[in-house]
Amino acid sequence: MAKLIIVTRDGTEKEVEAKVGLSVMENIRDNGFDELLALCGGCCSCATCHVHVDPAFADKLPKMSEDENDLLDSSDHRDAQSRLSCQLHFTDALNGLKVRIAEED
Ligand code: FES
Repeated sequence: MAKLIIVTRDGTEKEVEAKVGLSVMENIRDNGFDELLALCGGCCSCATCHVHVDPAFADKLPKMSEDENDLLDSSDHRDAQSRLSCQLHFTDALNGLKVRIAEED
C-alpha cells in the first residue's frame, strides 16, 4: 500500500491508500471519486480521466504515448502537468503522488 493524494475540482484534498498494480485512474475511482468519469474504462480513448500531476513526480511517471498526447490535445484544460490517469500505473515509486482532477471539458 502506498499513499495517493487526490485534489478534487473544488480544491478538497484527500489522502487515500493506493493499490500498487492498478492505474491511478482505478485508484481514484475505487476510492469513490465520481468527478473522474473515466468513461472508456482505461482504453485511452475518452480523456475523461484527465488529471494534473504534481511536478515533483514528473520524472517518475511513464513516458506519454502518442495516443495519450493526441487525446490530451483535445482538452481545453491541458497544461504541462496534464496526464491521463488511466495511463499511469501506480507503483511504489509513486508513493505520495498528488494529482488534481482536471476541469471538465
Ligand atoms: S479512462 Fe478513458 S482515456 Fe483514461
